Amino acid sequence: MIKISKAETESDYQAIEQLAYVIWRAHYISIVGKPQIDYMLDKFQSAKAIKEQIADGFEYFMLAYNDKPVGYIAIINDGDTLFLSKIYVLSAYRGKKIGKAALQFVEEKAKAANLKSITLTVNKNNQNSIKAYEKLGFENVGPTVKDIGNGFIMDDYKMVKVL
Ligand SMILES: CC(C)(COP(=O)(O)OP(=O)(O)OC[C@H]1O[C@@H](n2cnc3c(N)ncnc32)[C@H](O)[C@@H]1OP(=O)(O)O)[C@@H](O)C(=O)NCCC(=O)NCCS
Repeated sequence: MIKISKAETESDYQAIEQLAYVIWRAHYISIVGKPQIDYMLDKFQSAKAIKEQIADGFEYFMLAYNDKPVGYIAIINDGDTLFLSKIYVLSAYRGKKIGKAALQFVEEKAKAANLKSITLTVNKNNQNSIKAYEKLGFENVGPTVKDIGNGFIMDDYKMVKVL
């Protein structure tokens, strides 16, 4: 049983910070290295950073499986498209259609806002997630590189799902 609930309290932000710490370190150290992950966790996924992003228009939602918090998503309406900024599920809970349920939820949000697409960026070497996104109807529209400071870049593909 999958439940999706909006993150709106300090304890929600702290729960997401904890999930990010576990998921990102397990998943990304082999892809971009520990220094970049430590930097990104602090800059983008601390409870404080999440609170600031929400004040800037992002919405965070927690994903629960049988009432256990197992992941989270973040979205923002950028005017043309709904940008899926984060989608993360604990490794032990992948392949249970939690990502799919989250994406259906995001699609409903996009349609309710009269947006015609969902956009995301994914690391070029994050092959399993790229395959999952393709299964979920996203198309790779090409590379995108973003400088995130401290000498680090995000070397990604941009993927779009037309609704
Ligand atoms: C990407 C992610 C959110 C997908 O969530 P999930 O709950 O594991 O995915 P689901 O079980 O809902 O699967 C969705 C679809 O993708 C497919 N899929 C999932 N993982 C796959 C893989 N490794 N290879 C091929 N297909 C895959 C599933 O078969 C399913 O397709 P179907 O409905 O046609 O059968 C999750 O795997 C994850 O958190 N990965 C690590 C973190 C990450 O990289 N996040 C994305 C950052 S950009």
